[in-house]
Amino acid sequence: RGDSGLSEINLLKRQVSTLEGQLRALQSSFSKYKKVIMFPNGRIVGEKIFMTSGYEGNFDSLKQRCSQAGGQLASPQNAAENAAIQQIVVLYNKLVFLGINDIQTEGRFKYLNGENIVYSNWQTGEPNNDKGIEDCVEVYSSGKWNDKSCGEKRLIVCEF
Ligand code: IPD
Ligand code: CA
Repeated sequence: RGDSGLSEINLLKRQVSTLEGQLRALQSSFSKYKKVIMFPNGRIVGEKIFMTSGYEGNFDSLKQRCSQAGGQLASPQNAAENAAIQQIVVLYNKLVFLGINDIQTEGRFKYLNGENIVYSNWQTGEPNNDKGIEDCVEVYSSGKWNDKSCGEKRLIVCEF
């Protein structure tokens, strides 16, 4: 009884140690594949991943494509997330549309889930609703934001 209990424990110890080795191998492999998958179009900020496919289209088209992919149009909630999006703007030399707009109520910018924005990085003088037709938000290569007509074509950046 005592002996079989001991050998049972030793068996479990060997199994745990085998699993620990397999987990370490998986972790190191995963960390390498993350780098491969993020190169050069993706950025990781905390738990969030920003990714472009290079596609350009109007706001509705970008929104639909991100949603189709199981993500949503990039919606930066802090300076680090905004900087990641800015890097993609610079990499492609193309402005992007964010998942933010004031379509519902002029001057009240919201995320796609309808909540008021908690972070913004407006260029001086923006948002100005130029010609009364600017309800979407584009990001300049400086990282600063401008409200712009949702019908313009911009680079897609989704977040997952
Ligand atoms: C406009 C200006 C303006 C900004 C508008 C843009 P445009 O560009 O940059 O400052 O607020 O959103 O459309 O029409 O003069 O080329
Ligand atoms: Ca504007």
